[in-house]
Amino acid sequence: NEKPTALIMIFGATGDLANRKLFPSLYNLYAKGQLDKFAVVGVARRSLTNEEFQLRVKESVTEHGEAAANLDEFVSKFYYHSHDVTDSSSYIALGKLAEELDENYRLDGNRIFYLAMAPEFFGTIAEHLKKDKLTNVTGFKRLVIEKPFGHDLESAKVLNKQIRTAFSEDEIYRIDHYLGKEMVQNIEVIRFANAMFEPLWNNRYISNIQVTSSETLGVEERGRYYEKSGALRDMVQNHMLQMVSLLAMEPPIKLTTDEIRSEKVRVFRALRPIIGEEVNDYFVRGQYGQGSMNEKEVPAYRQEEMVDPDSNTETFVAGKLMIDNFRWAGVPFYIRTGKRMKAKSTKIVIQFKDIPMDLYYQREQTVNPNLLVIHIQPEEGITLHLNAKKSGQGTEATPVKLNYANKGIDGLNTPEAYEKLLYDSLRGDATNFTHWDEVALSWSFVDNISAVWENTNEHSFPNYESGSMGPEAADKLLKNDGFFWWPVT
Ligand code: BG6
Repeated sequence: NEKPTALIMIFGATGDLANRKLFPSLYNLYAKGQLDKFAVVGVARRSLTNEEFQLRVKESVTEHGEAAANLDEFVSKFYYHSHDVTDSSSYIALGKLAEELDENYRLDGNRIFYLAMAPEFFGTIAEHLKKDKLTNVTGFKRLVIEKPFGHDLESAKVLNKQIRTAFSEDEIYRIDHYLGKEMVQNIEVIRFANAMFEPLWNNRYISNIQVTSSETLGVEERGRYYEKSGALRDMVQNHMLQMVSLLAMEPPIKLTTDEIRSEKVRVFRALRPIIGEEVNDYFVRGQYGQGSMNEKEVPAYRQEEMVDPDSNTETFVAGKLMIDNFRWAGVPFYIRTGKRMKAKSTKIVIQFKDIPMDLYYQREQTVNPNLLVIHIQPEEGITLHLNAKKSGQGTEATPVKLNYANKGIDGLNTPEAYEKLLYDSLRGDATNFTHWDEVALSWSFVDNISAVWENTNEHSFPNYESGSMGPEAADKLLKNDGFFWWPVT
């Protein structure tokens, strides 16, 4: 495996994402010997010297990662360019620096442009990169772009058109950091490398699937962004729908980027649109009120900084998705995500149908359905819920669990999602990034829901207490179908 070689330009290099995730991830790759010939240019508005920037990188790695002796050598490859995103001369200067570094470090003319900053500039930057010739490279050029990718389908199309002037679809790496999570990547392996799951993975044997991603944090300092986004755009349009597509896709004919993507796209195409009045039957929104988290009182969403005191932005969404194809007809996929909930936890529960006849129905005790639980975070692993004989006299059945803990087996910490995705973008593997077709189809699904929510004036927010599992209506959503949310904590 040849080590990737590239000049990495990080736009938004003084921002939170670069600081918390990108620098420590790059360092980890370096420390593991996976990065060899590279240099980084940090690009941002404020003026900093290379030395000041290197110091920030060092601090970021020390604070958020595991720094070792070679940290000085690592940061010596970092340069800084103070930038005005709308000014051509600034891009031209950046281009000169890039050429110098390319030559000094022998980077084969390969360039990664990583946009880790406010989305309103994505289009402008891409257009300037082309116009001011930064994309005239002798090696590869790739654009790595963070969400939000638009605000709805229309704005996503505009943005896509802008970036496509400078980069072709296969040069665009749209990050969905959930696709870098170890156990999200494991969904395919669990499904397609085991003889015992795939034959049951359909509407004959699965009764419903539940995907929960709950957070304990509130909106923190992101009120300005979140007010315009809400949980539907922030989590459902991307992370939640991506997990659903991996759970529901057909086996690809090969494990190549194109084959996997095309199977995922087919799931989005089969996703039943929820339109108009149906939205109230299929979706529930919530907003957190005050409450107590770890014995500490926390404020309601409407009291948070940069949030309208009458805000109708949702901080919780639960929904029922139907995938209208042969495999999934009739099987609800329930999703739920929210802030200020009881626990930080992402889990997938696959509930199998009941056995045809319950021989062990005794003394009001019946066998429990089989569950396959995929623990995405904080624990990583799978649990299979089965029934076995209760020890002792008699033939009573009792629930048992088979556990596989990812960390325990491999004996090492799984790499951060960003580390894997950065490495993939450097190697040119776009499998765990979202293709434009997936973005477009998920926006059209989500737009139908926001259209209804944004035009309804009736609200009874806040409707869930901080520290709870969301509004009651989310429980009713399943109860109406004869199910309940399996506990995730
Ligand atoms: C981000 C959202 O995409 O995902 C945040 O913008 C959210 O609002 C975060 O907190 C959750 O990610 P994770 O990895 O902590 O589950």
